[in-house]
Amino acid sequence: MDTNHQPKIVLITGGSRGIGKSIALHAAKRNIGVIITYNKNPELGNDVANTINRNGGKAITLHLDTSDTASFTSFASQVRQDLKSNWGREDFDYLVNNAGIAQRSLIADTTEEIFDELVNVNFKGVFFLTQKLIPLVIDGGQIINISSGLARFAFPGVAVYGALKSALESLTRYFAKEYAARKIRVNSVAPGAIDTEFGGGKGNESQRAQVTAMTALGRLGNADDIGGFVASLLSDDSRFVNAQRIEVGGGVYI
Ligand SMILES: NC(=O)c1ccc[n+]([C@@H]2O[C@H](COP(=O)([O-])OP(=O)(O)OC[C@H]3O[C@@H](n4cnc5c(N)ncnc54)[C@H](OP(=O)(O)O)[C@@H]3O)[C@@H](O)[C@H]2O)c1
Repeated sequence: MDTNHQPKIVLITGGSRGIGKSIALHAAKRNIGVIITYNKNPELGNDVANTINRNGGKAITLHLDTSDTASFTSFASQVRQDLKSNWGREDFDYLVNNAGIAQRSLIADTTEEIFDELVNVNFKGVFFLTQKLIPLVIDGGQIINISSGLARFAFPGVAVYGALKSALESLTRYFAKEYAARKIRVNSVAPGAIDTEFGGGKGNESQRAQVTAMTALGRLGNADDIGGFVASLLSDDSRFVNAQRIEVGGGVYI
């Protein structure tokens, strides 16, 4: 039983579109206050927050480039200030590291520039942002890292991306280990192929048919398949789930 009746608050990176937007909307439906970050699309981030606020929830937006580690100290101070002015507290309950970028290059064509950008957004940024924000996460809070089915199986054209998601799943367990004393749970959720604009979308009809064919439930996922599930984890009902990788992909490559 959850004895702390203070409204919960989640910070979601990359909440302006796709999966992050869906997590934000589903969290708000569960009466969780939402801090959404956007990078290049402030108007989309604001639309998500406005929708939540219009429907009786509470959401604010902040700019964040998760590859810009130098900005993280001031971002954390901004979060603290905004928590105080909007919710009257200086900590929050859940961090969802969702922001990510895709790769579309075979190993032979992958430049150092592509490699570094992928590392900075999908791995280094997650590490240092979590390091900077975790002092603001309550004891007993939860961190969810959005991984990928591609951490488990290989596809041509996404080698660095897939390897970094595997690394993120490993990092998930290390954070769970080092922050166990504070009872902070750290889990990763690994979506299968989800129909968002990620990496320019899910390709042509034949590529979509290929993904559908290898998925037991016989379809691509949509953002709400992930958003609803992640929001359901943001509760005391998942209190004994820790250091886990949970794949949400309709049974892909089984
Ligand atoms: N779609 C899939 O098939 C799939 C499958 C498995 C895992 N995933 C993972 O799910 C997560 C979300 O993917 P999605 O499909 O929702 O992608 P998406 O539709 O492309 O949305 C990406 C989100 O991340 C933000 N973002 C991108 N680069 C950023 C940066 N440098 N700093 C901060 N925010 C940044 C974007 O913000 P702006 O628009 O404001 O720039 C946007 O809100 C990613 O971690 C991805 O790896 C996706």
